[in-house]
Amino acid sequence: MIRRLALALGAFAVALAPAAQAAVTGETMRSAAVQGAQSGDWMSYGRTWDEQRYSPLDAINDGNVQRLGLAWYADLDTYHGVESTPLVVDGVLYNVSAFNVVTAYDGRDGRRLWTFDPKVERQWARLACCGSGTRGIAAWNGRIYIAALDGRLIAVDAKTGAQVWSVQTFDRSQAYSITGAPRVFDGKVVIGNSGADYGVRGFVSAYDAQTGAKLWKFYTVPGNPADGPDGEASDSAMKIALPTWFGQWWKYGGGGTAWDSLVYDPALHLVYIGTGNGGPLSYHFRSDDKGDNLFLCSIVAVDADTGQYRWHYQMVPEDDWDFTCTQPMMLADLKIGGRNRQVIMQAPKNGFFYVLDRKTGELISAQNFVPQSWASHVDLKTGRPAMYPDVHLTTTPKLMTPSLLAAHSWHPMSYSPKTGLVYFPAMEQSTVYARQEDDAFHFVPFRINAGYDYVGSTPERAALRKKLQAEANAMEKGYLLAWNPVTQKEAWRAPYSHPGSGGTLATAGNLVFQGTIERTFAAYRADTGQKLWDMPIDNAPVGGPVTYMIDGVQYVAINAGWNGAIVANLGKGPGGFQVSPARLLVFKLGAKGVALPPLPPPAALPRPPALQASEDVVRKGAQLYGDTCSRCHGDGAVGGVKDLRWMTPETHAAFDDIVLKGIRADRGMASFGDLLTREQADAIHAYLIARGKEDWADAAAEQHK
Ligand code: HEC
Repeated sequence: MIRRLALALGAFAVALAPAAQAAVTGETMRSAAVQGAQSGDWMSYGRTWDEQRYSPLDAINDGNVQRLGLAWYADLDTYHGVESTPLVVDGVLYNVSAFNVVTAYDGRDGRRLWTFDPKVERQWARLACCGSGTRGIAAWNGRIYIAALDGRLIAVDAKTGAQVWSVQTFDRSQAYSITGAPRVFDGKVVIGNSGADYGVRGFVSAYDAQTGAKLWKFYTVPGNPADGPDGEASDSAMKIALPTWFGQWWKYGGGGTAWDSLVYDPALHLVYIGTGNGGPLSYHFRSDDKGDNLFLCSIVAVDADTGQYRWHYQMVPEDDWDFTCTQPMMLADLKIGGRNRQVIMQAPKNGFFYVLDRKTGELISAQNFVPQSWASHVDLKTGRPAMYPDVHLTTTPKLMTPSLLAAHSWHPMSYSPKTGLVYFPAMEQSTVYARQEDDAFHFVPFRINAGYDYVGSTPERAALRKKLQAEANAMEKGYLLAWNPVTQKEAWRAPYSHPGSGGTLATAGNLVFQGTIERTFAAYRADTGQKLWDMPIDNAPVGGPVTYMIDGVQYVAINAGWNGAIVANLGKGPGGFQVSPARLLVFKLGAKGVALPPLPPPAALPRPPALQASEDVVRKGAQLYGDTCSRCHGDGAVGGVKDLRWMTPETHAAFDDIVLKGIRADRGMASFGDLLTREQADAIHAYLIARGKEDWADAAAEQHK
């Protein structure tokens, strides 16, 4: 009633609609988990603290989903950088776009209530390995929490968007960034960060939600032993970790950054931290080929109040492959082997699905969900993977699967207690791995320091690399996977043309929703995998869909934008991949009359200019490209945010200004002027022209088919 009145009052409604907001508190979060008053809300990144991304709403269901239509949409003013899960609290939808710009909308019709722009310096995009997107925001007690790319944790008023406080969570003189969503529980905000690839030491910290005061900090890997204890909550845990490291890792940070998943467990009062890969990626350069390197690629449980260590389980000892274990974690109570178990589940990059006892960290089961060439199995007694011999990198290229792009990355997974299945996008991909020659590895601050060889250090190795890459491309597969965590078996799969589809949502309406690499938004029967509905949306959403209810009407929302390392998959079709600018799309049953503006017709593929550089310069350019550009522009310059094989004559002419002077920094292409000389930029340019020339004829023919 109040809402209808507010609508009639026009401008006045802007102030009134959000004023009705029920605060996100411990009580409302608990109520959201059951068929309670909050069943129509989506108040936290994974909806509830257990992060199951399951909604009890069933007004949209397997019997009527065919009637779903576009109710409203909002332009997000960017071509990339949108991987976030919106929040919905009492009728207001809060969304976050590239560079952490937050907008509040009326959830019914998309009327904009306020926008808060934290004005992140655009240059910071360079420190986010795979683009400047954020995966989400948090809500608590009348406030919205933003973890900005540049490390600020900011609280704004949920009604007005006015800033309440802001704290800097990391040392800005180091190559950290934040892309993960903060989580809030019982008056505390926890946040991790990224940067392992660049050379930082991972940590997670907690702040008072009311004041922004720091409460605790937990490092995930040891620092320089000569510096002594840090005086932080992780000191006791570092005593366990330190003996598992060798060499001089601290000079390169060590890594282990917790860049995505953090889960709060109200029953056990723990926070689970999913930790990332080593820095540098190469085990040889990081730890002299010795030691497990705790707590890389692990789940670490800490006390929610103090950050004190409770237990850890390491999925990937001796990380050499960029296998992070930051992937989504979810809590559930499952009956396994006749016993009720409190479990935590994860399907990380390495291709295994893990079920652990979340009280003790004991491994209950682990099974690979894609074919892989890393470990034959995980030993249930010791909890250790039985790694195949010769898995570690040498200077000779070899093919391994999963790829460093992951069997499953950060893309949200969901669990339906009704079907007992977990739903997530699975990818079968391989990487041609090799490490650099010993004397070729030089640590360069503020650049990705993998220690990987991207070219093949001799012509023979380069030829081998090419052959293996072609094999890898031919084997690729991507599908939506429904997995039974009790039996550790596949229930069903929905295949796509290639890898790269987005996160999932499960509902009580026997539905699973997913944004797909086919540039559609789709709904499947949760029990059988039968596709019931899809709609072309001119984009390949990567983030998690949400559902909510206002005034008895159920809505489904998805950010149709793309970002992250798997953008490399987008350009794999002929002539690159054309997408619309990012949009927030909201659907409801029976909606009609709202249509997306048509895409402009694809431009003819520009022919690459003449190559005026020697083979040697092209090879140098290839390695520099691998180290500096490939994360955003794709392996071998295929796909990525802009396919650099197909630059226009104008872009070729402006190349040095774009790369060295940052004239496109406002659009996410930061300056590399401090890292690259003009000669080096020219070498990269020569490599890109050479790549364009190699592929142009085939791609142009495909486009004209
Ligand atoms: C952190 C991600 C990121 C990295 C790393 C990155 N770029 Fe970019 N780049 C972008 C984005 C985003 C755009 C699109 C900007 C736009 O919309 O114009 C872009 C666009 C470009 C363009 C313009 C292309 C066109 O057709 O309009 C060039 C040239 C370019 N990048 C070169 C490079 C080179 C060379 C490197 C490595 C030295 C590099 N980029 C590294 C994100 C990145």
